[in-house]
Amino acid sequence: MKKLIKNGTIVTAADTYVADILVDNGVIAQIGADLAAPADAEVVDATGHYVFPGGIDPHTHLDMPFGGTVTADDFESGTIAAAFGGTTSIIDFCLTSKGAPLRDAVAAWHAKAKGKAVIDYGFHLMVGEVNDDVLRELPQIIDEEGITSLKVFMAYKNVFQADDGTLLRTLQLARREGALVMVHAENGDVIAYLIDKALEEGNTDPIYHALTRPSLLEGEATGRAVNLTELADSQLYVVHVTCAEAVEKIADARRKGLRVYGETCPQYLTLDVSYLEKPDFEGAKYVWSPPLREKSHQSVLWDALWNGSLQTVGSDQCSFDFKGQKELGRGDFSKIPNGGPTIEDRFSLLYSEGVAKGRLSLNKFVDVVSTSSAKLFGLFPQKGTIAVGSDADLVIFDPRAQRALSAATHHMRVDYNAFEGMGVTGEPASVLVRGEFVIRDKQFVGTPGSGEYLRRKRFGQHAAKPKRPSAEAAGSVQP
Ligand code: URP
Ligand code: ZN
Ligand code: ZN
Ligand code: ZN
Repeated sequence: MKKLIKNGTIVTAADTYVADILVDNGVIAQIGADLAAPADAEVVDATGHYVFPGGIDPHTHLDMPFGGTVTADDFESGTIAAAFGGTTSIIDFCLTSKGAPLRDAVAAWHAKAKGKAVIDYGFHLMVGEVNDDVLRELPQIIDEEGITSLKVFMAYKNVFQADDGTLLRTLQLARREGALVMVHAENGDVIAYLIDKALEEGNTDPIYHALTRPSLLEGEATGRAVNLTELADSQLYVVHVTCAEAVEKIADARRKGLRVYGETCPQYLTLDVSYLEKPDFEGAKYVWSPPLREKSHQSVLWDALWNGSLQTVGSDQCSFDFKGQKELGRGDFSKIPNGGPTIEDRFSLLYSEGVAKGRLSLNKFVDVVSTSSAKLFGLFPQKGTIAVGSDADLVIFDPRAQRALSAATHHMRVDYNAFEGMGVTGEPASVLVRGEFVIRDKQFVGTPGSGEYLRRKRFGQHAAKPKRPSAEAAGSVQP
């Protein structure tokens, strides 16, 4: 059915204006002042509300085995929570195993999402090794599946960590194939040593998770990844940037003209390392890798979003119950499953702490929670903006709502909220995915399985800067 969304204040990464939006067949058919309602259209009044493009969360881990357990939220609970929070597309990390066909991992991730997701979803593919099989299979998967972003872990020694040679070869392959390489940038070898040393000395509390992963080691790994990217003339996206040291490396790279991009997360913008010292093991709720930092890093991250050194905010949703899951690390901080529940509150936290507190403009907010991810990950302009022909993924947002974030009211299937009690201004009132309400007047009205798989374009079609002429002249593939 057609929908006419009347009188909302439309906000994109570029513009803010009052107009009506006609939605037909899942896409935006018309935008204009005082559009006449077709006879078969439902009229939705958005007076006094912002109409944002649906949030795009470029970093989620749903139904993922990790740390000896599996994340509490799957593609059903996770995407319902995301929708309540104003997110209409996610890109989840598909984990691979060494020696096993990449295709098997992709099939496993499709099986996790199918019949469950209520919003649209794509996958990034983890690369843990590069050998002849991987070199043959990866281009096929990029082509057939539209998985155009590859993830390399520089940390989690003996679990996911890849060596620098693997990172370089992945960057080279990405350069040839038009993919974006994502890194978890921490020095895993040194961290493994520091963890062993801390445990030997009897230091087992959650705070030692942070003390064994100093920001210097995030800056070091970020700089190393940037150097390898320059060597390969490739493109790099640094996930979950937490600190000044890493921001500096990304900003330097961008000043040099390198295709280097960065993401931060709501937790690093709003919480700090002192949370890990909460008594009764509650600090375990705040164990992320990289860890929460000293408060002084927060303003560096906000400034970096504002000045363009960082482009996106991902949730890094990776939820574990406190009871039974985080508790696996009682007596040994290294066994606390890493990650937290953030998919639902990412959008509202960025609006409230960003726009309402004057740290981000409305348009910059849209850019970092939606548009930039669409451009970097091959979804623009189908997703990430409000334009004729784009998917009608829309958030009708009440900027006056006041509420407190809480596990008592959230929709994630996890027994705590990392932002418990934090007051926020603004709330998604209704959320549409391809023209259908998934959230209507703050009620879930969607259908598990209605989310569609996103086959994505190759990197470069919407990157700000074309590839270097010298490399093109050498005959490399132009994505
Ligand atoms: O602590 C985190 N970030 N858990 C999720 C896995 C990852 O490193 O992104
Ligand atoms: Zn990570
Ligand atoms: Zn992650
Ligand atoms: Zn309202």
